[in-house]
Amino acid sequence: MSEQTGRSWVVMKFGGTSVSSVDCWSTICAQARLKLADGKRVMIVVSALSGVTNLLTRLAEGGKKQERDEILLELEAKHRDLLSSLGLAPSSLFTGHWNSLLHLANSSGSALKPADRALLLAHGELLSSSIGMDALAAAQLEAVWQDARSLLKTTAEAGMDVLAARCSDDTEPALEQRLAAEGSLHITQGFIASGPAGETCLLGRGGSDTSAAYLAACLEAKSLEIWTDVPGIFSADPRVVPESRLLNRLSYSEAQELASMGAKVLHPPSIQPARRHQIPIFIKDSNRPSEPGTRIGARTVREEAQVKGVVSTNKNKIARNQLRATWRLVGFLADAFAVFKRHGYSVDLISTSESTVTVSLDPQVPAHSDELRMSAFLDDLASLCKVKIHSGCISISLVGNSIRTILGRLSAALDVFQDRHVHMVTQSANDLNLTLVVDSEHAVSLVRKLHQLLIASQAENRPEFGPSWTELTRLQPSDDLTEPWWKNKEDQLKQLMSERESAFVYDLDTARKAARRLQKLDSVSRVLYSVKANDHAELLNALAGEGLGFECVSMEEVSYVLSTVPGVRPADILFTPNFAPRHEYESALEAGVGLTVDNSWALHQWPEVFAGRDIFLRLDLDAGYGHHKKVITSGADSKFGIALEHLPVLKQSMDQHGTRVVGLHAHTGSGVSNTDVWREQLQRFLEVLPGFPEVRVLDLGGGLGVPYRRGQAGFDLERFDQLLAETLADHELELWLEPGRYLVAESGVLLSRVTQLKTKGHYHYLGVSTGMNSLIRPALYGAYHDIVNLSRLNEPAEWHYRVVGPICESGDVLGESRFLPRSEEGDIILIANTGAYGRVMSSRYNRRDPAREYIV
Ligand code: LLP
Repeated sequence: MSEQTGRSWVVMKFGGTSVSSVDCWSTICAQARLKLADGKRVMIVVSALSGVTNLLTRLAEGGKKQERDEILLELEAKHRDLLSSLGLAPSSLFTGHWNSLLHLANSSGSALKPADRALLLAHGELLSSSIGMDALAAAQLEAVWQDARSLLKTTAEAGMDVLAARCSDDTEPALEQRLAAEGSLHITQGFIASGPAGETCLLGRGGSDTSAAYLAACLEAKSLEIWTDVPGIFSADPRVVPESRLLNRLSYSEAQELASMGAKVLHPPSIQPARRHQIPIFIKDSNRPSEPGTRIGARTVREEAQVKGVVSTNKNKIARNQLRATWRLVGFLADAFAVFKRHGYSVDLISTSESTVTVSLDPQVPAHSDELRMSAFLDDLASLCKVKIHSGCISISLVGNSIRTILGRLSAALDVFQDRHVHMVTQSANDLNLTLVVDSEHAVSLVRKLHQLLIASQAENRPEFGPSWTELTRLQPSDDLTEPWWKNKEDQLKQLMSERESAFVYDLDTARKAARRLQKLDSVSRVLYSVKANDHAELLNALAGEGLGFECVSMEEVSYVLSTVPGVRPADILFTPNFAPRHEYESALEAGVGLTVDNSWALHQWPEVFAGRDIFLRLDLDAGYGHHKKVITSGADSKFGIALEHLPVLKQSMDQHGTRVVGLHAHTGSGVSNTDVWREQLQRFLEVLPGFPEVRVLDLGGGLGVPYRRGQAGFDLERFDQLLAETLADHELELWLEPGRYLVAESGVLLSRVTQLKTKGHYHYLGVSTGMNSLIRPALYGAYHDIVNLSRLNEPAEWHYRVVGPICESGDVLGESRFLPRSEEGDIILIANTGAYGRVMSSRYNRRDPAREYIV
């Protein structure tokens, strides 16, 4: 920090997509202004405009003049378009760099040597930073343009690669003082530095992050901000797992591990300089500058062991070498690795057994895809041991602190690897990752399942995890959530509460609208309402009025529906029991309701019950999904469904007794927002289908998620419909759904009254009149429900409250850290989206009656 002024530095790096438009530059200027106003000195580090480094790389390959001219035209257009959209003319700084680029590009028709190549590639950043300089000036921000080559010098390592050099991460007080004297705002280039003789060197692809980290170290900055086009680091690649969660905070080691094992947001070498000087790194999104992003820093609180990320890296062509030999001979490994070294092969994972050493080759090293080199390498290695090569592999790494202590918990998750061949398993020495190498065709489904089992089902209410990718990136929140029904019925709700302490209140129209949305789906022939979510008689009748049938899980539910909904026929009901007594199956068949059997044991033990009958079979289609592990109803750990491998024997026995399977059923879990799950389910059904020629119905169960947080997107019904329609094309089958939550969650609220307030320890407690006896979801699943003070809807939020009920359990917490207006005894507190699994799961624990139900 400059001794002259005592002002601290902030280094902000903006990637290619964050410097390529007018909006980007508005963000950069606004952020610089904020930091300056906050008394900071600012160093802005920029990448080349999007796509420019790729064009320059092609230019450096040489080639025909016409091709080079075309590339130059494209480069010129990219920069000119940005200048003109910013309303700027090219400055002399820009023109100088542009001319030097033209000169370099035209000087040779053949591929450039590394030093010239480095110089040519450096022009992407030289040009973008020149434009940036003018954009800042146009916003009345006086900046100093710095040539990065005068700021960062590469370390003089023997055999240094000018295209992937390293710099020192020592503090540079002299440099800091020079810059502080020149001004408070600077702009420079990422990716480039200068070598010992002043020549241009590069820091490798993605090296702008590392430039910024070196500069932060040199200047002993207060913070390093990496601005990019995603909201932070996620628990998995969001393109593969849309419900991956934003990681709010990571330790340096976790971030290093995630970046090295495949998370692409941060260039791995950029972490060490920041870590050495304990500079926090913030990953921020240029499109959403006010979002907090991911903070990487020293671990300040003790965290429970937890998997934070599931990342995969393509091992491309060659992934595994297996050395079979008498390898316990002294020096065997040294000899074997000498062969790797001689041929320029780098190993990134290794596992050993009694007779085998398995290694995978670092995919970053280009030599590994050179066939000729590979065969020479293999010949050489064959003199030491037998070698087996496996291609097309992928590594899947589970990353998180103290991974060793959670091996027990991982075991259930590892079941997903059952029938997939695992080529190797390695556990990192630093206790931060467990990596498995599998065939790449299984990668996507495995990553999704592991994420679901190890992260999604654990993440609710844990401070390390933020919102999901889907929640953050969807522009349009669901229509219903923007204006929840209860906002228009505020007076009615207050009136209803004038004589009560608590109440569940339902709005039938909201449920009807949800039913209509489902009834409109082209791919779905029939919608059954899953009665267990909410059995209020008026709701059942409202849904029946929309043409829905019912799905029941007990004979009590069946009888209740038959007696409560006038006009309902037994054929409108599907009974899906689990471990129910024999007489329930008999009664159901006698009553003529549809029946789903989910255990082959029942069919083998009581064949006479099902003889000559039409039934549905509930199948276990492999790992399930759900908002919490307790609501995953498929996969090795769940008690539901018939395992696919039992079907052939079962089929034979059913044929003998004339039991016809007319429907296949599966319900993989509850509260799922990823629409791909149902497509996969349907695909698995279609694989099984040839064994069941009489099937005419595929029942995909329920599970459709609803938004529980403000601003969260609604279930993507359009995509859901489209995926199902595509997958079912060419089949004459009916698709049925049986959702509960989707139909009723948003139609209900739980009202209660503030009883008492208390401040103790770190918490302000807001006590309300009913708790887990009415709504057990927060205590049972860590579920989140929005909470508002209905008596003070228009007052500003001021306090963070822990909202608790009156039950004698420390777990009787309805919401943690809820930002609400200062509340008083008697205020009405509303807990939103409690129409599903609210009252039906309530109890009289402590002899406290749960809230009663009302319709408005
Ligand atoms: N079909 C079957 C066979 C089911 O087991 C369930 C729910 C559903 C349909 C309806 O699932 P939905 O569309 O509502 O997700 N108490 C938990 C939910 C447990 C769901 C049990 N089965 C919660 O509060 O989140």
